Amino acid sequence: MKLLVIGGGGREHAVVKALKKNKSVEKIWCLPGNGGIARDAECFPVKATDLDGIVAFARERRPDFAVVTPDDPLCLGLVDRLEAIGIPCFGPRADAAVIEGSKVFSKRLMQKYGIPTAEARCFSDPPSALSYLKTCEYPTVIKADGLALGKGAVIVNTFAEAQTVIDDMMVKKVFGESGNTVLIEEFLTGPEVSVLSFTDGKTIVPMVSSMDHKRARDHDEGLNTGGMGTVAPNPYYTPEIAKVCMETIFLPTVRAMNEEGRTFRGCLYFGLMLTPKGPKVIEYNCRFGDPETQVVLPLLESDLLTVMRACREGTLNEEAVKFSSGAACCVVLASDGYPQKYQTGYEITLPETQNGEEIYVAGARLAEGKLLTSGGRVLGAVGTADTLEEAVERAYALAGRIRFENAYMRRDIGKRALKALHS
Ligand code: AMP
Ligand code: GLY
Repeated sequence: MKLLVIGGGGREHAVVKALKKNKSVEKIWCLPGNGGIARDAECFPVKATDLDGIVAFARERRPDFAVVTPDDPLCLGLVDRLEAIGIPCFGPRADAAVIEGSKVFSKRLMQKYGIPTAEARCFSDPPSALSYLKTCEYPTVIKADGLALGKGAVIVNTFAEAQTVIDDMMVKKVFGESGNTVLIEEFLTGPEVSVLSFTDGKTIVPMVSSMDHKRARDHDEGLNTGGMGTVAPNPYYTPEIAKVCMETIFLPTVRAMNEEGRTFRGCLYFGLMLTPKGPKVIEYNCRFGDPETQVVLPLLESDLLTVMRACREGTLNEEAVKFSSGAACCVVLASDGYPQKYQTGYEITLPETQNGEEIYVAGARLAEGKLLTSGGRVLGAVGTADTLEEAVERAYALAGRIRFENAYMRRDIGKRALKALHS
């Protein structure tokens, strides 16, 4: 089998490494990939948003199966384009990817089908948004409708803060067209859980749960980032809660998308908040999370390619998708200064990895045989073990053996989860 993987982050490195375990895989092309992925797949500098470039590449090389992981190409319809030239894909078509691409769409879907989520109202003009904001309780949450690099949700504590956000999103258009419409939603509280799932549009199989650490600094302080680390499983996500989520959220979402004529096939990601009134949906993503994937896939015992093909073929009910009962922790090594300004171009020295260790490279490029930092999040050091304690210890021990100038990591990944486990 020849495979094509689209994307170039740590998540894609984890996907490529998991796909490679299947003995029938003879070749993986990754567009654009990165300097670390290049050790495991053949990378070409075609951007994930260059749909024409990707389709031209696929026409020439004829992969047997393609895996599209980033949100942009999914929402732009890359799966539709690849399938139109006869290449089966893992990932939703554009009409289903809208579940992430438009927060207004997903909110209306949840409201229509009674899927628990924060109360919210949509506004397309600044004056009506502002007059509503004068009357609402604080804190409240303002979200840009469209994709905004994960920065489109802002918690505001006062009307004055809300005014600034409305001005940025709707008038100055800092997220472009994504801010044409905004959602103003109720502020919820409770632990957050990420649940990625495989679905073929009929059957839905949740993967092991995980916990992201989005803030840049220890103790959940500092700016929001793409994610500074993850652990799996998430100790807040008990079997009882999992059952409630399956009945009130997961299955109803799959059915709702079918009802709307937008059958979702691929990885459906549920960003949940376990509120005092039960689990509620904070967001849907139409793809694997980053860096959730880096802790979820190392715990997958089944063959990833087989499961992905079953999602495409509609035969997921015939697959036993198994996860290990152990735990995993991913510590992200970033360029100091991320998510704002940072320097790149430093050489990375990677250690040999042992059993229970994985390194997934995100922001690095190859230059004359050397691996150099090239992004904010440079790589993830992952430890897997029987227990979360050991997994966290392993991830930090591995992170400590990775060297590059200007490296920064949080020191408290997994701390909150361990505390929850022992309380
Ligand atoms: P989103 O872009 O929708 O995933 O939101 C980013 C982050 O903002 C989430 O991970 C939450 O921590 C927070 N957030 C989003 N919506 C709410 C809400 N309704 N109440 C409280 N926090 C929220
Ligand atoms: N880690 C959150 C996301 O991938 O959206």
